[in-house]
Amino acid sequence: MKIAIASDHGGFELKQKLVDYFRLKNMNLDDLGTNSADSVDYPDFADKMAEYILSSQADLGILICGTGVGISIAANRHKGIRAALLYNQFVAEMAKKHNNANIIVFGGRTMKFDDVVSYIETFLNTSFEGGRHQARLNKLDKE
Ligand code: RB5
Repeated sequence: MKIAIASDHGGFELKQKLVDYFRLKNMNLDDLGTNSADSVDYPDFADKMAEYILSSQADLGILICGTGVGISIAANRHKGIRAALLYNQFVAEMAKKHNNANIIVFGGRTMKFDDVVSYIETFLNTSFEGGRHQARLNKLDKE
């Protein structure tokens, strides 16, 4: 599985910690930036990630801004993107089981690294249920 990760400056510190964590675990990871704590605009990184996921260059995206809110809003403007802000274990499980999120989102200024890692592990270890949930996802993308 290929994972891509990106953040704005508000998520930069958390992103770097996650990059180190994934590299230690030898996971297949593409880092799409930002590459410093200098101020940038979160829509630019949400757009870059959405295009990456929609063109199948990665199987799952991780996006981070200060709260996770702005970058979620921006990513979800792209048809076919299901970006979910994971803030507890139950939501991490349901975002896969029911929503089959293709981008998971975190707040660099609102969440602790250890919690974020546990939400990612829960999401990765859960399967999409399909069935009635797939029918609902189909409605999201209808013309
Ligand atoms: C940047 O200061 C901040 O607004 C951004 O990271 C994010 O929290 C927006 O929703």
